[in-house]
Parts: sequence; C-alpha cells; structure tokens
Amino acid sequence: MAFRIITAEEAAGMINHGDNLGFSGFTAVGCPKAIGREMAKKAEALHAEGKPFQVGMFTGASTGESLDGVMSRANAIKFRTPYQSNKDLRVALNANRAHYFDYHLSQLAQDLRYGFFGKIDYAVIEVADYNDNGELVLTSAVGNAPTFCMLADKIILERNKRRSKELKGLHDVYIPLDPPYRKEIPLYTVSDRIGSPVLKVDPKKIVGVIETDLDDEIGGFTPMDDVTLKIGENVSNFLAAEIKRGTIPASFLPIQSGVGNIANAVLAGLGANPDIPAFTMFTEVIQDSVIDQMRQGNISFASGSSLTLSTPCMNEVYGDLAFFKDKLVLRPQEISNNPELVRRLGLITINTAIEADIFGNVNSTHIIGNKMMNGIGGSGDFARNAYLSIFTTPSVAKNGAISAFVPMVSHHDHSEHSVKIIVTEYGVADLRGKSPIQCAQEIIEKTAHPDYKQLLWDYLKLGKGHTPHNLNACLAFHTEFNKSGDMRNVKWEEYA
Ligand code: COA
Repeated sequence: MAFRIITAEEAAGMINHGDNLGFSGFTAVGCPKAIGREMAKKAEALHAEGKPFQVGMFTGASTGESLDGVMSRANAIKFRTPYQSNKDLRVALNANRAHYFDYHLSQLAQDLRYGFFGKIDYAVIEVADYNDNGELVLTSAVGNAPTFCMLADKIILERNKRRSKELKGLHDVYIPLDPPYRKEIPLYTVSDRIGSPVLKVDPKKIVGVIETDLDDEIGGFTPMDDVTLKIGENVSNFLAAEIKRGTIPASFLPIQSGVGNIANAVLAGLGANPDIPAFTMFTEVIQDSVIDQMRQGNISFASGSSLTLSTPCMNEVYGDLAFFKDKLVLRPQEISNNPELVRRLGLITINTAIEADIFGNVNSTHIIGNKMMNGIGGSGDFARNAYLSIFTTPSVAKNGAISAFVPMVSHHDHSEHSVKIIVTEYGVADLRGKSPIQCAQEIIEKTAHPDYKQLLWDYLKLGKGHTPHNLNACLAFHTEFNKSGDMRNVKWEEYA
C-alpha cells in the first residue's frame, strides 16, 4: 500500500472545527512542523468569515513555534495539554483564550486510553522513515506518539527528510497493558530495551504523508552564570558527601535532571567532581550537556523521551551514531517518566522550583499565584517517586525583588512530603527527618538570600501550631510584590 503524498494545506483541509489532535514530539523536537502553519491560516480565514475553527491539542510536552506559536496566535486552540513553554501560548492561556490543563507527563497516555478525554480524531506524527506495513521510524522524540496512533481514527505523517533512516534502533516503543491486566514493566536497568525499534500502526489509518525538510526549533539556552554554576557545584558536593557517608551507593544512582541552564550547570558540576563516578541518566529530556558529558566519559548511558539538542549538537550525534547509538535510548514518556521505574531504579531527581516555602512545599508552575509559567512537566513523576528528590532554585528572582523562599507558596505542585533537598547558590537545605519548624530553620539558614533571612525569621514568630503559619500574613510577600514591586518592603505589622 503506497500512502498518498499530500501538502500541508491539504492535510489542514481535512481537519474540522472541534477535532482533537495528538501530535508527536517532546519539547520542540520530533513535532510536526508543517501542518500547524496551514491550520493557523485556515483558522484565520474562517474566523475572518465569522466561522469557528479551534482544535483540541494533545502533545508530548512543549512543542515548537510552528505548532504552539502559530496556533495560539490564530486563536485556533480549543484546549491544550499536558505541557507548554511558548511565549504566545502562555499569553493566550493566561488570558483564558485557550484552555490548558497542566498534567503529569507520564500520565496523559494512560488517561487517554482510559477514555477520560474523549476521542482523538487525528494523530500527526513526524517520522524519519515508514513502510507500507505501517512501521514508523520516529525522529528525535517518542513522547505520546504510540498512544496517539493507537487511539486516533486517522493518522497523518510528516516525513522529515532531514532525519536519516538510520535513526532506526534509537527508539524503544513499549505500551503497557491497562488495568486490570497490567504487569510489571520489565525494565530493570537504565539501558534495558523492552519494546520495538519502530512504532507499528494500522496502515489503513494513514490518510496522507506530508514531505518536509524543516529543522527542529530549539531556542538557545541562557549561558551559565555565577549563580547557576554555584548551584551546580553545591549539588555535586552534596551528592559526593552522601556517597562518602554511605547513603548513596559508591557506584552512584541514575540521575534525572530538568532542562535549562541550572540543569546544565548541575551536570557540568557532577561531571567535574572527581568523587562522583561515571553515571547514567534516566530522564525525560536529553540536552546538550548530556552529550558533552558523554563525550568526556562522565555519562555512560542516557534514557529519555527526547534528544532536545541544539542544531550543532544534533548534527554531532546523528553524524556519529556509531558512537552514540548504544549509549542512548528514546522511550514513550509514560516509560521514561514512569513512577514504577523511578522508584525501582532509585533515581536522584533534580528539578527547578519557581518558589518554595519555608516548610518545603514547592511551586513549579505559577508566577505570584495566578499566572501559568510552563507547567509541572515531569517534575511530579520524578520527585514523588525518587530515591532522593532535589529541588534547585536561585535564591532570588527579578534582581532581588522576589524571594524564592516565601512563608507559603502561592501555588502548590510538590508537597513537603516529596521534597527532600533544596539547593541555592548559598547552600543546601536537607529536609530529611525534620519537622516543619526544623525545615524552616534549615531553609532560612542555609538557602535563603541574606536580604530575606530576617524577614523570614520574623514571620516564623507570627505563627502557631505544628506548621506555624499565620493565615493573615502567609501571602504577604506576594501581596507586597503586587503592591510595591519588591517583597523586601514587607512590614509584618501591616499583615499580622
Ligand atoms: N516569582 C516570579 N518570577 C519568577 C520566580 C518567582 N519566584 N522565579 C523565577 N521567576 C522568573 C524568572 O525571573 C524568569 O523570568 P524571565 O523569563 O522574565 O527572565 C522565569 O521565571 C524563568 O526563571 P529562570 O530562573 O530563568 O529558570 P528556568 O528557565 O530554569 O525555569 C522553571 C524555571 C521552574 C520555570 C522551569 O524549570 C519549569 O518550567 N519547571 C517545571 C517543569 C519541570 O520541572 N520539568 C522537569 C523535568 S524537565
């Protein structure tokens, strides 16, 4: 069966208002890059005629500009899940022009299969190769593509000629059975392969193939600075000390780390530390720093759901698959982030907080209580089930006008029960085995910025009880920021 070659415009023409679409990819890699612009054009044309056109968008995680960017600017999104990080989409969803449900990344696929979110009309999947039997070689990510293809009525492929057929073998596609038939996921070491190198789909569902040659749209990372470097050094010194005291095995444990410049600094810090042996990663996003550390022999294997690499780094990996292929595996996100596996493999997880409160609760998603930044991503999948869950954050934001440590978080993503270690440029707060009041003392003393320490000590005197909050004053830092633009102006007598 030869599939019909279609243009992106023809593909967009098939999509109807109200349809639900599942897109391949995870971050800006592996996503369809051609159909989004045509759907956005269609939406704009229909809206100009006074007709509706909006679609539901299921993805792996964030996507590229040519999906989230164009679709949000065209007001073409009915709902969006499970994660985003696009500037224009953020504006749209904070203005309630697009409905967004922020979802644990490991959970969306199974909850779609459970039927919680209705049907999927189309799966749109970027591939490096395919054959007539419906065997797809994915590109730089797996994400939720297997479940989208399983559930969708129809499948549209974007065959990206930029990606070589030789990617076959990089992916390990496995979908667990659903309850009551689910068994253990048979993955016992980070590098085990348990599935298929290709994604097998029903060829009868494939309604067309768009041929493209479009590059992934990876934004540049902010370079590391003194603060992030110090955070990286604090994390690696802390972990080296834990090995020494015998709480982490001498052979070390797999690392999960988030994306961005703090994660880069942490991996660089771990790589540079002579007391930390070469290690493996069981994570969701494999970024440039992982490849750098692999080349240096500090990382021996990385399992993830995407290769989110800058173009030069991607070219390096794809140009030397002989070196990298047996050191990398890309899995569906319900496997890369699976709580059962995170607990079994004993991951050390390192994620970034927007803010934490002095009792160890973490906000990863909202700015001053009501504006969505990105979403929870995989941080909850990993943090709740980790061997050791670490959160990092610079001690202040916005040139010191915002403290990362507040009396009470203005939005709650990770509870004190999942947060074991907090690290800033000032030091490491170890919350294990401590009561709320002891956690507060540890956090204020070890990690808070000097400008905020006294204010936080004074807050502690206002409260009562096991977790000594004062409900009149617990959000005063945020209220003060909204009033004067600087949390340092808090005067407790005005609140308590
Ligand atoms: N209040 C208000 N704004 C804050 C803030 C706070 N407490 N803390 C940070 N910010 C702002 C920063 O000033 C910056 O703003 P800008 O974009 O206008 O410069 C922005 O938030 C991002 O902060 P930055 O320090 O650059 O951190 P980052 O890029 O590492 O992002 C998170 C931090 C928390 C937003 C990001 O890690 C995230 O989205 N996490 C959730 C998902 C996740 O953890 N995934 C893990 C698996 S990959």
